[in-house]
Amino acid sequence: MPISLRWKRPAPLDVLAPAMQWGRFCTWIKAVLERPQLLRNRERAWKIYAGVHDTLKTSEPVGCPNDGLARFADHILQAHCAKPVRYLEIGAWQGHSTAFVYRILSGDVQITVVDPFVEYAEIGDGIMHHAQEVFSANMKAMHAEDKVRVLKGRSVDHLPSLIESGEQFDIICIDGSHATLDVLLDAVLCWRVLSSGGLLIFDDYWYRRPDLGAGYRPKLAIDAFVGAMSHEIAVLDVARQVFLRKK
Ligand SMILES: C[S@@+](CC[C@H](N)C(=O)[O-])C[C@H]1O[C@@H](n2cnc3c(N)ncnc32)[C@H](O)[C@@H]1O
Repeated sequence: MPISLRWKRPAPLDVLAPAMQWGRFCTWIKAVLERPQLLRNRERAWKIYAGVHDTLKTSEPVGCPNDGLARFADHILQAHCAKPVRYLEIGAWQGHSTAFVYRILSGDVQITVVDPFVEYAEIGDGIMHHAQEVFSANMKAMHAEDKVRVLKGRSVDHLPSLIESGEQFDIICIDGSHATLDVLLDAVLCWRVLSSGGLLIFDDYWYRRPDLGAGYRPKLAIDAFVGAMSHEIAVLDVARQVFLRKK
């Protein structure tokens, strides 16, 4: 290899996605130094979330106020998108996060969800039973049914047509398949339909499924994506969920 090219090899820190390391550090520092604000955001998010949970038909336990809900609601509110906000969710299941986003934005939102609504490798039997019907009933219970478009099928089946038709979204949440390759695919394809200044959220950054083999590591996909595209990305927060803004 010519000597001039040797220096163009990736430095070790590139492989570690320094933007993600820095994002993680900032999230941690903010959680300590800005604790009072985070606690206020927790209360605000919890009021919305608990109301949504009471409205939905769900098998999910309600949980309790936490920093994750606070960050989710706060980033959506701080995204300052033009109304109605164009929101895309990959992986909707029974509609909990869809309904949460709908309520955070006081209904001023146009929602698109993509989900095959069939059993898949990561879940036990019966979890997807009637999921689409439950999703529809939940949107009805929220009075959101007119604001929601459902694209039934895998993200890889629908995102290319959304790209082709030139659609753009202000906020995208990726919470579909957790297979590393699928997360990478979702990141790449969703980036094409995310508007400039838009917010991209990944769920389950730390997810691992050793029982299914080595191929279920969203973190590896997200780190690789951020490493490759860091010139277009501002990393806002790195915790169980990752929040990125498109520059
Ligand atoms: C963890 S659940 C989503 C939970 C939902 N966001 C919520 O907050 O309630 C994952 C969902 O992703 C869907 N899914 C699995 N593989 C997918 C794929 N390739 N494309 C789109 N959705 C997928 C599943 O059917 C399931 O409903």
